[in-house]
Amino acid sequence: MLIDSHAHLEMKEFDNDRSGVIERTKLAGVDYVITVGTNLNLSRKAVALAGQYENIYASIGVHPHDAGKIGHKTYDDLKELAGHKKVVAYGEIGLDFFRNISPQAQQIEKFGEQLHLARELDLPVIIHDREAHDQSLQMVRASGIHRGVFHCFSGDYEMAKKCLDWGFYLSVPGVVTFSKSKTLQDVVRQVPLSSLLLETDCPYLAPEPYRGKRNEPAYIVETAKKVAEIKGLSREEVTAVTAQNTLDLFRIKVSPGK
Ligand code: NI
Repeated sequence: MLIDSHAHLEMKEFDNDRSGVIERTKLAGVDYVITVGTNLNLSRKAVALAGQYENIYASIGVHPHDAGKIGHKTYDDLKELAGHKKVVAYGEIGLDFFRNISPQAQQIEKFGEQLHLARELDLPVIIHDREAHDQSLQMVRASGIHRGVFHCFSGDYEMAKKCLDWGFYLSVPGVVTFSKSKTLQDVVRQVPLSSLLLETDCPYLAPEPYRGKRNEPAYIVETAKKVAEIKGLSREEVTAVTAQNTLDLFRIKVSPGK
């Protein structure tokens, strides 16, 4: 089994050929995709896609870039969306002190509020952390939430150990295929496979040999290959274990034989 634990199929980059992209996902042997909302409107679209396709699940929430768009009704609307049976996580939420599209104080405030909401909804969280490792982890700890994933993990092994100690998974993006990604490759080498997920984060971050192009779930095969090479394991073992990790984290029950 092979799962893309983090995609953005609802984004406008897929408006012209979404059904073709989803078809290619199946042809590439990708069994399930978690599509991740980044604001209220895109969360609605993610949930609609999950309703339409058997192999797609959804996550809802507001990305730190969009923290300024959270209005007085946003959380009520997200709570309502969370009632859909294929919503399996809350996020992506977190801190982005690299791009700082929303002011940092606002990011921190909205991250805290959304961790609280995720806990209330009893959903695992998908964390976006860019150049904010210590503060992101500190806020996760303060929330008391032990179920989640640091998506597109960008820390070093020290940070990885702290996340694992807290019970979180780390998700490996296509960036691991880039020759310069030594820190991430080192993390992948040292962290047990039982704590790793695979993701595309499409349409962003296409792995080699597609680097620079629009990414899509089918390309996750390249990331699986690279993780297998780094860890000296078979590709089958890497895809099976990371898929099971994803199912466990998001409490997805699938029919046996997949
Ligand atoms: Ni993402």
